[in-house]
Amino acid sequence: MQSIPVMISGISYSVPKTIVTNDEIATLVDTSDEWIKTRTGIEERRVVSGGETSVTIGIEAAQKLIKNRNINPKEIDLIISATSIPSKAYPAVACEIQAAIEADNAVAFDITAACSGLIYAMSIAKAYISSGTYKKVLLIMTDANSKFVDWTDRRVCCIFGDGAGAMLLEPSKDGEDDIIQIDLTTIGKLGDYISLEITGKNCPLAERNEEKPLYIHMEGREVYKFVMTIMPEKIGETLKRAKLKESDIDYFIPHQANLRIIDALSERLGFTKEKVIVNIQKYGNTSAASIAIAITEGIQNGKIKLPCTALLTGFGAGMTCGNAIVKLREGIV
Ligand code: UT7
Repeated sequence: MQSIPVMISGISYSVPKTIVTNDEIATLVDTSDEWIKTRTGIEERRVVSGGETSVTIGIEAAQKLIKNRNINPKEIDLIISATSIPSKAYPAVACEIQAAIEADNAVAFDITAACSGLIYAMSIAKAYISSGTYKKVLLIMTDANSKFVDWTDRRVCCIFGDGAGAMLLEPSKDGEDDIIQIDLTTIGKLGDYISLEITGKNCPLAERNEEKPLYIHMEGREVYKFVMTIMPEKIGETLKRAKLKESDIDYFIPHQANLRIIDALSERLGFTKEKVIVNIQKYGNTSAASIAIAITEGIQNGKIKLPCTALLTGFGAGMTCGNAIVKLREGIV
């Protein structure tokens, strides 16, 4: 069966309005603007407020894309939401977004791949589009980390922020496949590095279980080492499979986890500063949303010139990681 080439036809993002600065975090825990900036690169982040959730910011990102790209929501065949912080265990975030944007003909489901969410979702979209199963596929990457951060734990609360991104994929009209290469890796044995345990309460007729607070647990240093050990090799493999070299990549757009990780990866791979897209200063680590936010904002502020070839790199809880080499066309924002 012939594989149908895929086009990335739209991208957008949405972040909540409420800004929390490092100085404000220093009123909650024993830290400082200096420590957070030096160790993470983060200056401020956005957090949901009032009734905002990963669903509401996801809806906003979707609506922006629909408006900018003049899409009829009824033509969307599939919505995949990559989220690790849903507002409800069910219905899925994607189902709530389907209802809100009136994409009544779309199948909708969530995936959990944490900060690799965009890459995992893109690979699913590619499989469905290439096989002819679905045409218009909307991906929503949305996380409201601030709801499950322990705001008394200085090792975790300083790095996360909230945000959402949206991406539309569909069959390519000119035969060019915008997803040149995409590779995923999962190492479940290292799952304890970052986790959000939902223990609940056992049935009163059963033995009692240990109830745990509902907070993100992160072994930051281990995650850091994991990324630096595995990602350069995985990126090298992706470039090799695509038969490309670092010099063929116009922009390296990694998950915005920590500026030190981004700098170290870029240096190891030989990407100069102009080629690396960074906006962690303003938004912190927005998990699944971070790459889509960085792409959209980079295009809007002119740091990313289109058309271009970009290397997208995600890594996070699972442990999951993924790399995609993509073509970004003019007019996608
Ligand atoms: O999104 C994907 C998953 N997440 C990541 O990629 C995160 C990767 N890791 C990181 O970004 C970093 O590990 C952190 C920013 C989370 C932490 O930085 P670190 O340099 O690895 O610090 P550490 O956890 O090794 O702690 C070093 C010291 C400790 O003090 P002692 O025990 O040496 O006295 C911490 O208590 O720094 C202390 N510390 C802080 N001090 C001031 C940890 N967090 C803070 C803080 N302010 N916010």
